[in-house]
Amino acid sequence: MTEKSTILKENPSKTWSGRFNEPVAELVKKYTASVSFDQRLAEFDIQGSLAHARMLGAQGIISHEDVARIEQGLADILQEIRDGQFEWLLDLEDVHLNIEKRLTDKIGDAGKRLHTGRSRNDQVATDIRLWLRATTDEIITLLRKLQLSIVDLAEEHVDTVMPGFTHLQVAQPVTFGHHLLAYFEMLQRDAERFADARKRINRLPLGAAALAGTSYPIDRERVARELGFEALCENSLDAVSDRDFAIEFTAAAALVMTHLSRFSEELILWSSPRFGFIDIADRFCTGSSIMPQKKNPDVPELVRGKTGRVNGHLVALLTLMKSQPLAYNKDNQEDKEPLFDTADTILVTLEIYADMLRGIRVNKPAMRLAAAEGFATATDLADYLVKKGTPFRDAHEVVALAVRHAVEKGCDLSDLPLAELQTFSPLIAEDVYGVLTLEGSLASRNHRGGTAPAQVSQAIARARQRLA
Ligand code: ARG
Repeated sequence: MTEKSTILKENPSKTWSGRFNEPVAELVKKYTASVSFDQRLAEFDIQGSLAHARMLGAQGIISHEDVARIEQGLADILQEIRDGQFEWLLDLEDVHLNIEKRLTDKIGDAGKRLHTGRSRNDQVATDIRLWLRATTDEIITLLRKLQLSIVDLAEEHVDTVMPGFTHLQVAQPVTFGHHLLAYFEMLQRDAERFADARKRINRLPLGAAALAGTSYPIDRERVARELGFEALCENSLDAVSDRDFAIEFTAAAALVMTHLSRFSEELILWSSPRFGFIDIADRFCTGSSIMPQKKNPDVPELVRGKTGRVNGHLVALLTLMKSQPLAYNKDNQEDKEPLFDTADTILVTLEIYADMLRGIRVNKPAMRLAAAEGFATATDLADYLVKKGTPFRDAHEVVALAVRHAVEKGCDLSDLPLAELQTFSPLIAEDVYGVLTLEGSLASRNHRGGTAPAQVSQAIARARQRLA
């Protein structure tokens, strides 16, 4: 210890360690440094260092005076960082060494004692977990807000008729409210996934030191309590090398983006003049520089596009881990940029999406017309015949013939006179028109999870309760 300080005194400008005979090449410095991106972990790094220092003090590993100096020094550094006054140096490689060096410049030997019983390996794992926990909480909050704006829009459209599609062909009528609530469910599972991933994020690596633990009489439980971790990483080798919590987080994010990408695809289709179902507020669209008539749905298109980027980050992280031997390897430094970009992308997407939904105008007549034109109630006619005793497969065939007839005549099933309908089955009577209407079809799907307006209203009430 004394020996090393002496060396540093003899050559104060020398930033490489006594172990090396020559400085690291400039290009290698740039290649290996992470400070340009990991400085965003600074607040969490300081939080972790404070908890570590207090534990060292409580355990008698360093003095209480040193703890007090460290606390004051880190508080000052935090302020410098917040004020944009902190000078980040590439020579000091990463966020951890930058802060530690600044601390030592400020408070001397006490600063040098902070790293006792710790390594950057358990330090960085702790920082990422703290950052990811906070980010996860932000995401869950924004997911809730987006779900709320879905429910609000659905409530306005409890009985707005639209065609439901399979294979992008008109299938059966649904209400727009019901359709929207499908996305509520997806996002509900997404929020559950993040809440579940949070449990595994929220474990303390500190104490693992470089890989094998430390010979100092540390108190890991105390550090965990102070940092709000609900458990300890139980194995030191695993603690410094595990990043599966980050992969889980990214997988959950990729699913959110995938859900929003599907939603976006629908918004894009529906806002195309070919569908004309909705209008997206101008503030979310742009015009074309050459075609004056255009209003392009840029935001949903970008959500769809950015989904590719988050999915890419998931694959990047999986690939990053797949061949790493225990324990820490520098490879792990590559976890940060994909993680940061995943978080930034999903956070802004969630925020913008909730606002975009509030700006959607629905063209009810266009939705209704599309459902009316697409033989959307053909299944209802088949069900009608089944209820009168026809086996379902036979009923299916009868209706297929009736649809073909209507196609040839260029009209809907409900436009066919009773006498004509009866040529397909003598069981058809006047009451058939009740089921051939869109409203009749909707109202008949009257069970939990069905599209009947009465059910959609109840689903909305339950959704609000789930958000509460
Ligand atoms: N910047 C490093 C990272 O992000 C910190 C840990 C470095 N540890 C080491 N032994 N070089 O992973």
